[in-house]
This record gives sequence, structure tokens and C-alpha cells, in this order.
Amino acid sequence: MRDPSIRRSVALFRAFLREQTDPEHCYRLLARDAAQQVARYAGPLRGRVVVDVGGGSGHVTEEFRRHGAQAHLFEPDTGELHSRGRPPAGAVLADGYLLPLADGVADIAFSSNVLEHVADPYTFLSELVRVTRPGGLIYVSYTNWLSPWGGHEWAPWHYLGAERARARYRRRTGRAAKHTLGENLFPLHIGPVLRHVRSRADVTVVSARSRYWPFLTEAVTRVPGLREVATWNLLLILRRSP
Ligand SMILES: C[S@@+](CC[C@H](N)C(=O)[O-])C[C@H]1O[C@@H](n2cnc3c(N)ncnc32)[C@H](O)[C@@H]1O
Repeated sequence: MRDPSIRRSVALFRAFLREQTDPEHCYRLLARDAAQQVARYAGPLRGRVVVDVGGGSGHVTEEFRRHGAQAHLFEPDTGELHSRGRPPAGAVLADGYLLPLADGVADIAFSSNVLEHVADPYTFLSELVRVTRPGGLIYVSYTNWLSPWGGHEWAPWHYLGAERARARYRRRTGRAAKHTLGENLFPLHIGPVLRHVRSRADVTVVSARSRYWPFLTEAVTRVPGLREVATWNLLLILRRSP
């Protein structure tokens, strides 16, 4: 599917709506889409060393392998790792803050929807940069706090406050919410992250865009204030400086 395009965004949105009932379809589609995005910036994936950090049960790792990449999954949560049964071969139980990798080993460091789940996103980013070779690519996407999806399973009620939104989720579903603000979900915005990556000497920003929007994907991230609500999910493509 062409990116950006209305057809692609509609297909992704439909898959999100079916995430609870058909997670396999949703995550396979997202993985295919993400691998295509990476290939557009990095070129053919065959033979490339890819590290998928916080890759959950490994949909994206498997997709990169289907493209012929040497993809490696790093995930700190055994529950996530085994949520579909057997994780991809060679998966490593590891925290993204401290990857068991030498400097510059990866052609591509990939992290999808993890940054808003870590308390210190800048240390996490630094670790992705450290393991990427000079000239290599870093793909990072996250759902920012003021996105309509910022509260995750309790969205969009997070606009009225996290505690209230969580309590509402419990009342409505009878289940405790997976995410708790300040524990495994953090209110990460777009402006500070953009300022951070632009100020770093060890990366250049190739693209800062909305990951899922069908149009104006880069323009929307340039407007302070508006971008916090309208971007939905920020995708950063960074190149490691030589
Ligand atoms: C919303 S899931 C995203 C999974 C997958 N990357 C995707 O896009 O479908 C967030 C993942 O981040 C992982 N995570 C949380 N803290 C982490 C950390 N410090 N280092 C690496 N991964 C972490 C979680 O265990 C979980 O698998």
C-alpha cells in the first residue's frame, strides 16, 4: 500500500478497530507496513542487521526476516515475548536501556510504540543510537500523550485525566487497565522530543512525520500545539552520524 494514502490509512484504522478480536491480522498488517516504511528509507532489507527493541512477541522481527534481513528481537517482558506462544528464534530478554550489543553493530535500529512506555525516553534513544553503525538508520515511533489514542485502552478519556479514565475503563469492562500512568505509560509530547533529536550531534533527522496519516504527514508535525493532538503517532527516521 502506498504511504501516505487514504487506502492505507483506512486499512490500518480498520485493523486497529479489530485489534481485540483479531490481533494477529492487526499486528501482521502493522509489521508489513513498518517494514515497507523502513525499506523506503534504508533500501533493500536483505542481509541487513536489524535490532527490534521492545518488539513484543516479534511480529516485526518476523516480517524483517521474511524480507531477508538478519533481524534480532530484544524484549524485557517474558509475558509479551510469549504472548503468541513461541517467540522468534534467538529472541533476547533484554531492556532497551542497556542492550547486550557492541557499539555500531546494527544497520537498522527499530523501535515501534515503546518510547511512551519508558520513564527515560532519551536514555532509551541514546541506546538505539549507540548500537547503530555510522550511516545506519534509526526508526522510532510512539503515540504521544495528547494524541486521541494517547491514553491507550482508556483513550480518549485521558483528556479528562488519567485516573478518571482508568477508573472508567475498569467500570465499563470489569477488568483492570493494562496501563498505569507513571508506571508503564508516560505523558510524552512531540515538541520536546523533536527539540532533543534536532540538538543531538550523533544523528540527523531524516524525517519527523505522522506514522499513520494519509496526507500532510510532515507538515502536521511542524505546527506547535496542533501537532500534539493531530499527529496521533510520531515517526522519527534518524540517520546515525559518521
Ligand atoms: C505497545 S508494546 C509495542 C510492541 C511492538 N514493538 C509493536 O509495535 O507492536 C510496548 C513494548 O515495549 C516494551 N518495553 C517496555 N519497556 C521497555 C524497555 N525499557 N526496553 C525495551 N522494551 C520495553 C514492552 O514490554 C512491550 O513489549
